[in-house]
Amino acid sequence: MPLAAKNPTNTTAWKELQEYFNSFKDSQIKELFEKDPERANKFTLKWNDFLVDFSKNRIDEKAFELLQKLAEESDLKDAIEKYFGGDLINETEGRAVLHTALRTGKSDDVRVDGENVIPEVYQVREKIKSFTDSIISGQHKGYTGKSITDIVNIGIGGSDLGPVMVTEALQYYKNHLKVHFVSNVDGDHVHETLKGLNPETTLFIIVSKSFTTQETLTNALTIKKWFLNSASQKDVATHFVAVSTNLEKIDEFGIAPENVFPMEDWVGGRFSLWSAVGLSIALAVGYDNFEKLLDGALAMDTHFRETPFEKNIPVTLALLSVWYNNFYGAESEALIPYSQYLHRLAAYLQQGTMESNGKSVDRNGNPVSYQTGTIIWGEPGTNSQHAFFQLIHQGTKLIPTDFIGYVESLHADQDHHNKLMANYFAQTEALMTGKTAQEVRSELQGGKLSSQEIDALVPFKVFEGNKPTNSILIHKLTPQSLGALVAMYEHKIFVQGVIWNIFSYDQWGVELGKQLASTILKDITSDSVSKHDSSTLNLLQYFKNN
Ligand code: F6P
Repeated sequence: MPLAAKNPTNTTAWKELQEYFNSFKDSQIKELFEKDPERANKFTLKWNDFLVDFSKNRIDEKAFELLQKLAEESDLKDAIEKYFGGDLINETEGRAVLHTALRTGKSDDVRVDGENVIPEVYQVREKIKSFTDSIISGQHKGYTGKSITDIVNIGIGGSDLGPVMVTEALQYYKNHLKVHFVSNVDGDHVHETLKGLNPETTLFIIVSKSFTTQETLTNALTIKKWFLNSASQKDVATHFVAVSTNLEKIDEFGIAPENVFPMEDWVGGRFSLWSAVGLSIALAVGYDNFEKLLDGALAMDTHFRETPFEKNIPVTLALLSVWYNNFYGAESEALIPYSQYLHRLAAYLQQGTMESNGKSVDRNGNPVSYQTGTIIWGEPGTNSQHAFFQLIHQGTKLIPTDFIGYVESLHADQDHHNKLMANYFAQTEALMTGKTAQEVRSELQGGKLSSQEIDALVPFKVFEGNKPTNSILIHKLTPQSLGALVAMYEHKIFVQGVIWNIFSYDQWGVELGKQLASTILKDITSDSVSKHDSSTLNLLQYFKNN
């Protein structure tokens, strides 16, 4: 069954939210704290090793209740069941959306077109396990009899970002294998990567759901050619494996069927790290840790599916985001992990969020009359504090920000961790409380400045405050907690898409650029040039003639 298709702005909740917003919008978070000593407890969710404090937001109980009413009226409960149940909710591609099935229990029954997909999920998991075990243990030998030391993941978008993000995040749990990623069609990427590699000891994983992606196939062919400079065609079998749904194209590329890790069309690229796309993760940290990552995601799935909206972490984060996006007019959200290990999380979630919810047509095919898809960006703290935090504190834009941090560090250097986390807490407090003119003035008085100089300086040193933040505090960075964190954001994306009445699981918007690039490639490589606007024509001619 498809998802219901309701314009959110026609719901009673939306109208009530609009009306309430008009009277509430200027409320100051710090005043809300003064009025209610219980505020922090009321707006904190605790689940497993997660604490999510969303009290430093521009909401009160009434706004939160109305947001939940919006979720109810959007038929979110029913949508969640369809999502987990394998209904064809990716309507424009006629597919189910079942990345959750990749981490569910072995005895579960999840049906697509009447067939239980779980046995196949576990068959692929078994294959990942035995393959990774043989590579990690050194049992699998390269064409000159040496064990594998380096892995190269060749893929782009969802076939790259998830594995990169997770292998970076779980660096602490890594084994001896060195994992490299080649994604960009820019030859610098592949050639720089190959410079340090020995074909005798390198395994290449070609990851492409479609196996038609120009970047991936170009990189794969370049690498194969490089490999064949020293090895022979028959050695491809021991050094190249592929992850894809397109078995025919893999065969054309020359990869043996036993070296194929299949994936299903009900796994979207940007949600595929849990599938065989995560092979490089399993190789980097071992299959057991890969499985723990999946277990963490499953725990979050269960929380999301079974917890009432008011205690539900992904639902709460999504509703807050809708509140800022659609009522306060915020355009972007920052994501600041206070963990260097998570330095690719924002990049990963950019694809997850923006490719999913960057849509302007609703589920009935009509243009939407409201904002969808937030812009996601961010870098780890504390580096980001010394880069772009100025704008969050004192700029003209409202940027709701997620702070992610850990109670316990993975290293034993408590001094570093205390300083890191002191910055996390200080930033959320400073963003909320700001600094008044009076506070600035009294700070400056008693110093060397004259009263005129103080008057001149005050406006620049005032912090408006009232900047919203979510504090996500997790006990420790483990494969499980990382899996839960990623699943938390996946479900946030889903909830937003349900409320905005859009299809979150297609990505037609990336097609036009691909089509034009293939026409232009012909223009570049042939003598004639096809019809273009005068700017594109000038650029092409300049490129070809210089
Ligand atoms: O950019 C479009 C896209 O289709 C993404 O959704 C996907 O993750 C990426 O390209 C790579 O696709 P594939 O895995 O089929 O090579």
